[in-house]
Amino acid sequence: MRQTTLGTTDIQIGQIAYGCWRFAGSTLEEADEKIRTALDHGITLIDTADIYGFGEPAGFGGAEVRLGEVLSMDKGLRDKMVLATKGGIIPPRPYDSSYDYLMEALDNSLLRLRTDYVDLYQIHRPDLTVPFQEQARALNDMVKSGKARHVGVSNFTIAQTRALQAHLNAPLVSVQPEFSALEQSPMTDGTLDYASETGATAFAWSPLAGGKLATGKGGDTKQFARIMKTLDRLATDHEATRSQIALAFTMKHQANVVPIIGTQKIERIAESAATADIKLSDRDFYDVVEAYRGADMP
Ligand SMILES: NC(=O)c1ccc[n+]([C@@H]2O[C@H](COP(=O)([O-])OP(=O)(O)OC[C@H]3O[C@@H](n4cnc5c(N)ncnc54)[C@H](OP(=O)(O)O)[C@@H]3O)[C@@H](O)[C@H]2O)c1
Repeated sequence: MRQTTLGTTDIQIGQIAYGCWRFAGSTLEEADEKIRTALDHGITLIDTADIYGFGEPAGFGGAEVRLGEVLSMDKGLRDKMVLATKGGIIPPRPYDSSYDYLMEALDNSLLRLRTDYVDLYQIHRPDLTVPFQEQARALNDMVKSGKARHVGVSNFTIAQTRALQAHLNAPLVSVQPEFSALEQSPMTDGTLDYASETGATAFAWSPLAGGKLATGKGGDTKQFARIMKTLDRLATDHEATRSQIALAFTMKHQANVVPIIGTQKIERIAESAATADIKLSDRDFYDVVEAYRGADMP
């Protein structure tokens, strides 16, 4: 797996990351196998969040608990991964990025994950009620305490990201928008360009649109049909699967995007890893952009 750096840090990560949103229902054995398979394929950044598991039997914190159990079975495993979590979503409020809440949320995540630190702590969604100065104070203190090596944001607008950054002592090392062949707005709303400007890593969440791009189900619009047709043609051209082409599309953007895959199937983790070797041409990339736009590039 091709490696890249996490933002402006010296931490190396695989060009594809593994996400734990759908992970909380795994048995311990299954969870262990998924994490080991990802790591074995060079997928070294593991992205989770305290909210993952909420609404399922595992409940709030469920994915972190499971991952923590995996980590506790093999003390050497923690050092083999770059561990990222998120906090700040707390239904039904729905968000809380106050100083006290975020500091406690990080402590609780560390307890569940059974580790002393995370490599990356991300505010999950922007809380419109808490001043950016206060949110930044929390992130600054997390880094100062050593409990979070670096900090980042997810689902922030560029203006929100800049407002937060203005009060931080260290650069935000990551942004995390939804980005896929079916959700291309980060290419035009400035998110990916902000990452290029600052050196932050742009993680793409739901790079297969939550599975729609793999199954071909879940969209009956003309746009969806155009994107499917284009991905299928490119899959034939490159002797790849449609999912691999969809992942390769996100990685072709100049901002050096790191897609976070969410499959819970071992064989699909391996299949996704092979995507890093697929080289889409510039024309291939623009074919997917034009399928999304429904028009040629101007
Ligand atoms: N920051 C945020 O707000 C936010 C929001 C959402 C997600 N995320 C992050 O992004 C990660 C990935 O999100 P995601 O899970 O939506 O990613 P995704 O990779 O777009 O979708 C994963 C889904 O696609 C299905 N799938 C994959 N390959 C398939 C195939 N070949 N055939 C049929 N189904 C297939 C998977 O089912 P199988 O398990 O059966 O393969 C799974 O249900 C999350 O784990 C999380 O870390 C962040």
